[in-house]
Order: sequence, then C-alpha cells, then structure tokens
Amino acid sequence: MASSRWLFFVFFLVSLSAAQPGLPTFFCVDTSGNYTNTSTYQKNLNTLLSSITSNTQINYGFYNFSAGQDTDQVNGIGLCRGYVSVASCHSCLDLLATKLVELCPVQKEAIGWYDDCMLRYSSRSIFGVEEDSPSRIIANGNSVSDVVQFSQTLGGLLSSLQKIAASGDSRRKFAIGEANVSSRQKIYAFMQCTPDLSMQDCFNCLGSSINEITNCCSGRVGAQDLKPSCILRYEIYLFYDSAVWLGA
Ligand SMILES: *[C@@H]1O[C@H](CO)[C@@H](O)[C@H](O)[C@H]1NC(C)=O
Ligand SMILES: *[C@@H]1O[C@H](CO)[C@@H](O)[C@H](O)[C@H]1NC(C)=O
Ligand SMILES: *[C@@H]1O[C@H](CO)[C@@H](O)[C@H](O)[C@H]1NC(C)=O
Ligand SMILES: *[C@@H]1O[C@H](CO)[C@@H](O)[C@H](O)[C@H]1NC(C)=O
Repeated sequence: MASSRWLFFVFFLVSLSAAQPGLPTFFCVDTSGNYTNTSTYQKNLNTLLSSITSNTQINYGFYNFSAGQDTDQVNGIGLCRGYVSVASCHSCLDLLATKLVELCPVQKEAIGWYDDCMLRYSSRSIFGVEEDSPSRIIANGNSVSDVVQFSQTLGGLLSSLQKIAASGDSRRKFAIGEANVSSRQKIYAFMQCTPDLSMQDCFNCLGSSINEITNCCSGRVGAQDLKPSCILRYEIYLFYDSAVWLGA
C-alpha cells in the first residue's frame, strides 16, 4: 500500500514536469540593438507575439509575421515540430513567447526552442533566409556498444531524411523515419526546416547539422541540433507521435 502510494507520487511528479517545461534553450541577440520599455518596438513585439497563436487559420505549424514599420518593425517566425498537434503547437508557442521576452527583456532579437516548437524574432529581415547560428547541440552522454554499425545505419537514415525534408512544400519541410541497427536496436530520427526556405537552403542547413552531429556525437544513443533554420534529432526510442503527422 505504502509503495503504491509512493509510485503514484512519482508518477504525479513526472507528469507535472512534462506538462510544465522549464527553461527553453535560448539565445538573446543584441547585434541589432536593444529596445526600451514602452518603446514602439516593444509594442510591436507584443502585438506580433500575440498574433502568432491567435491566428486560427494557420494550422500547419508555421507562422511568419511582421508588426510595425521601418526601424520599429519586428519580424517573427514560429515553427512547431511536424509531429505535434495544433493545440500543443499553440500552447508551446504561447509559453515560449512569454519566456523569451522575460529571458531577453531588452534585446531586439531572440530565439528559443522547446521540445515541441521554436520561436524567433528580430528587427532584421529573417524570412526565406537560411541561418545556421546561433545553434546548440544537445547530446545524450551514453554510447552504444557497436559504434561502427550504429553510425553506418544512422548515416544512411539521416541522409535519406535530409532529401525528404528538403523536398517538402512551402507549408512543411519535415521528415521522420526509423532504421534497424540490429534485431534489437532501432534508431528514430526527425528533421525539419522552416518551410520558407528553398529546397537547396533546407538541404544545406540539414547537411551542416548532420556534419556537426557526426563530428560531435559519434556513437551517442541520441542527439539533437537546434538551429534557427532547421532542427535534427535522433534517439534509440520513439520520441514522436507519428499518428499526428500521418493524420494531418
Ligand atoms: C544591450 O543590453 C545588454 C543588457 O543590458 C547590454 O549588456 C548590451 O551591451 C546592450 N547592447 C547594446 C548593443 O546596446
Ligand atoms: C523593462 O521591464 C522589464 C520587466 O519589468 C525589466 O526586466 C527590464 O529590465 C526593463 N528594461 C529596461 C530597459 O528598463
Ligand atoms: C511566409 O512563408 C510562406 C512560405 O511558407 C511564404 O509563402 C510567405 O510569403 C511568407 N510570408 C512572409 C511575410 O514572408
Ligand atoms: C526492422 O525490422 C523489423 C523486424 O524486426 C521489420 O519488420 C521492419 O520492417 C524493419 N524496419 C526497417 C525500416 O527496415
């Protein structure tokens, strides 16, 4: 009895932390300058951030909007991972918008990632432009036992997904897939570009992710590379819900 209550308590804690993610991975960028409170830029930024998820006509997980004009213009991009539902997409972007302006209270440019979504804004023009930095690699510390076989399988899977993702349309540039390392081990992988990129730019962005992941993380059981224009992740467990994607 005591042990089942303990188990329930542990389960409760786990689901609480899953429902309320902590800090996103983020960067505050001041190369385009800072803004002050009550400035027009700040007003435009708030307008932009609230318009992203209040737009109910867009249901494919990509948002590219501007607010304001001239030097006070703010450009924003929101991208949800192709395997999350519209509802999860909205709540992820809402939370990330709130966190980003808290974490970067003066910088005109910022970018952040949660597991389900990415959000960035800037006074610069950012639409249709491939940007590979700032970026962050998050790698699992554990290694596989058969590095050669694992790397070979992973390399094949990633290069086939790179082609599929790059050849997506202007709404979605996204691919998920799996491959068998052995009868007992699988690799699950995911890639996505912001769909405003050209096929070639998407291909190049994912190519540099594949190179970086290959260099940094050979034999690791999982890794992800977060870039402004593209995202790559692989794991040895199923980390996406393919039903959402296939049903969309
Ligand atoms: C922007 O503000 C930050 C934090 O106050 C400061 O460290 C940085 O030097 C400022 N950058 C510019 C370009 O003014
Ligand atoms: C603007 O207000 C926020 C929160 O109230 C504060 O953290 C930030 O430092 C202020 N920025 C400036 C430039 O005063
Ligand atoms: C937003 O991206 C779409 C491609 O997904 C493009 O057709 C559209 O022109 C972009 N909007 C802006 C404001 O750049
Ligand atoms: C992986 O192996 C299973 C059988 O163990 C097979 O059913 C499946 O088609 C294989 N998947 C791939 C992608 O080759």
